[in-house]
Amino acid sequence: MAPQISSLATLLLLGSYLAPASASKLPAQAQFIDQKAFNVLNTTQPPTEFNAKTPFVPPGSTGDSLANQPFHVYDKEFLKIIGDHPTLTRIGHTSKDPIFHEAVVWSKGTDEVFFVQNAGAKNASTGLHKSAIVEKISLAQAAAVSDKRDAVGLVNITTVPASPIILNPNGATNYRGQIIFTGEGQGDNKAPALQVMNPKSPYNTTVILNNFFGRQFNSLNDVAIHPKSKDIYFTDTIYGYVQDFRPAPGIQDQVYRFNPDTGAVTVVADEFDHPNGLTFSPDGDYVYVTDTGIDNGFKGFDWTRPAAVYRYDVKEDGTFENRKIFAFSNSGAPDGIHTDSWGNVYAGCADGVHVWNPSGKLIGKIHLGTGTANFNFAGKGRMVICAETELFYATLAAAGNYVDSEM
Ligand SMILES: *[C@@H]1O[C@H](CO)[C@@H](O)[C@H](O)[C@H]1NC(C)=O
Ligand SMILES: *[C@@H]1O[C@H](CO)[C@@H](O)[C@H](O)[C@H]1NC(C)=O
Ligand SMILES: *[C@@H]1O[C@H](CO)[C@@H](O)[C@H](O)[C@H]1NC(C)=O
Ligand SMILES: *[C@@H]1O[C@H](CO)[C@@H](O)[C@H](O)[C@H]1NC(C)=O
Repeated sequence: MAPQISSLATLLLLGSYLAPASASKLPAQAQFIDQKAFNVLNTTQPPTEFNAKTPFVPPGSTGDSLANQPFHVYDKEFLKIIGDHPTLTRIGHTSKDPIFHEAVVWSKGTDEVFFVQNAGAKNASTGLHKSAIVEKISLAQAAAVSDKRDAVGLVNITTVPASPIILNPNGATNYRGQIIFTGEGQGDNKAPALQVMNPKSPYNTTVILNNFFGRQFNSLNDVAIHPKSKDIYFTDTIYGYVQDFRPAPGIQDQVYRFNPDTGAVTVVADEFDHPNGLTFSPDGDYVYVTDTGIDNGFKGFDWTRPAAVYRYDVKEDGTFENRKIFAFSNSGAPDGIHTDSWGNVYAGCADGVHVWNPSGKLIGKIHLGTGTANFNFAGKGRMVICAETELFYATLAAAGNYVDSEM
């Protein structure tokens, strides 16, 4: 059937808005990705050859063109997020050691960002003696080089002598003026734990939870504070086992809530393959939990499992209800997750940071050409992105959703 005149006119108008006109208005480091351009591909490959781990290069693009303008606009809503002059700068690089992994957290008082090394598999070259490394950078140093695309060597990466050490830290957030980490534990007898660290010298730490009524957790993954109740929520999942440093799991993977004042630990959600990152909407009405079910460590990948973000309503009493699929990533699985002050949702995926609006529409990506397990805002307009052997600093217009629980 022939299109009606009015819809044809709309299409033409839309085309001229999205293509040449907006291209000239886009910031220097941004490009528009036209999803219609790949609705029909001339050739497609079977899942053994093309799957969630294969970088997708849209027709007309190349790996270089995707990287040269790393702010990918999938919907014009993303323009407000990136502002007029977004920048992406590589500020750290190692040849092999995955020292830029997760637990990315802004220490407001010192204006530093902390992050941790990947515990990794036995093979990952980290070695268990190195798997408790916490590091930090100064944001003033990062900001001073944001006009460069590559500033490796110009920003100091400092190892933090946390004491006692945090065994295989993986997640972190601000907590009562300090930083709370999820430690994945190690071996049979060093249990996963929630451990709080002083963000200033001497970086003393205190374990505040290491069991569920005597039972070990599997390997604690991520932690978030509810913006209103200030309760601690955290995920537990099997990565310590499938990365070979924890015994076979003794409890199902699930999401917990901890009230540190009463000591009460409760389960708030299950029904996941591997619950991973979690975060709240700015008003605390929603919680977002990533499920990295496709990735089973040494057991390999199962492309039919979740690579998704689930959303729940958070009830007045702090329990979760109305589980709903929020987003499914085309690239790897969404891991670390954060919201901005407008309620948009960002998650680290295999090609960079994906950004969805509050309805779960993909509106943009910060393309790295490599995977990011976690990243975080550092207040307004600043973001630090970990990518295992690479560390990035980004500037954009959006503000983070800073929650502390000073009391
Ligand atoms: C598909 O093939 C046609 C004919 O060779 C070519 O003109 C077109 O650009 C191709 N499209 C894509 C998306 O590769
Ligand atoms: C472990 O490392 C060795 C040597 O680099 C490599 O040959 C092997 O494939 C690796 N195994 C895994 C499971 O990654
Ligand atoms: C990095 O640390 C070294 C040694 O403390 C210091 O000399 C240098 O000025 C620092 N770099 C920056 C950019 O501050
Ligand atoms: C670190 O030590 C100070 C001084 O004793 C104490 O007030 C603070 O609570 C400690 N922090 C942690 C996380 O252990």
